[in-house]
Amino acid sequence: MIILGFESSCDETGVAAVCTERGLLAHALHTQIAMHQEYGGVVPELASRDHIRRVVPLTRQVLEEAGLAMSDIDAVAYTAGPGLAGALLVGASVAQSFAWSRHLPAIAIHHLEGHLLSPMLADPRPDFPFVALLVSGGHTQLMRVDGVGRYELLGETLDDAAGEAFDKSAKLMGLGYPGGPALARLADSGDAARFDLPRPMLHSGDLDFSFSGLKTAVLTRVKAAEQQAGGLDAQTRADLAAATQAAIVEVLAAKSIRALKQTGLRRLVVAGGVGANQLLRAKLAAALKPLKAQAYFPPLALCTDNGAMIAFAAAERVKAGLVTLDPDAHGFTIRPRWDLADIA
Ligand code: KG4
Ligand code: ZN
Repeated sequence: MIILGFESSCDETGVAAVCTERGLLAHALHTQIAMHQEYGGVVPELASRDHIRRVVPLTRQVLEEAGLAMSDIDAVAYTAGPGLAGALLVGASVAQSFAWSRHLPAIAIHHLEGHLLSPMLADPRPDFPFVALLVSGGHTQLMRVDGVGRYELLGETLDDAAGEAFDKSAKLMGLGYPGGPALARLADSGDAARFDLPRPMLHSGDLDFSFSGLKTAVLTRVKAAEQQAGGLDAQTRADLAAATQAAIVEVLAAKSIRALKQTGLRRLVVAGGVGANQLLRAKLAAALKPLKAQAYFPPLALCTDNGAMIAFAAAERVKAGLVTLDPDAHGFTIRPRWDLADIA
């Protein structure tokens, strides 16, 4: 079965074709980063309008690259939530219209389930069960994953998400949007030891996170530099970036190790945009070695939002018998706020 998937929950328009037997056939992505950059963050109305502009050309591109005709598609999938309401509506209505016009079933997918299963697009592919560290701009969660649709929340952030901590700290340092990749790049030339930043909840004994205090600590350092030197000089900015990255990564790595020990599992899957962070990848790989555990990451291009993970999650749900494929059911809702624990 060939599934065409649409992602439009935030600032990336993604389309992909996945075959339940052959895997990913093609995917195409347009990121709106350049468009939102001048506003310092995502402008929801602009995001929705841009999704509308991009979705049809991207769909044509995917069909062409995969060598598929519209008549080859057997089902359509789309991100139903969580995300920006207007943005979600674009992908959902395009997907439903496509499905309706060709009398195909449409499958609503939870965005985080897409991220969660995306490491299975990599080679080697992790077997179940595994612990998943989901680290995106909106979420920071540790989950136990026993199979497709079988997710148990082990811990999560009590305030800011890890990606948000990267983005907000980067903004305080005068870096562009999205801050995570910019901060990580700058950190390469910085000395993390120069600033002693807090590691929130590192020793809390549970699997929860808190990052808002870190942002405040960064703000304090930025203000101090402004008072003492009229602002951050290039080296101080790089050192602060390195210290911030080190603090976030240390907490993420320590809690992931704790989750492995607590569950007795030996596989850790890292998903979501922050999973692209190279220091996080290196720290986890090193920390897992003595535990004889293995870390799995999605291919870098599939770490941030994309259509492949949505089409793939739909294919996995179909294979697991979790979806009703009804070509006549085309009423739909989007769910801007949607807990992964609530997926049916
Ligand atoms: O999963 P994603 O694309 O979108 C959400 O669903 O939120 O994640 C985006 C987040 C942003 O906060 C971005 O700054 C962060 O992932 N990010 C990174 C890196 N690349 C993306 N954070 C740290 N280091 C990176 N290399
Ligand atoms: Zn995402």
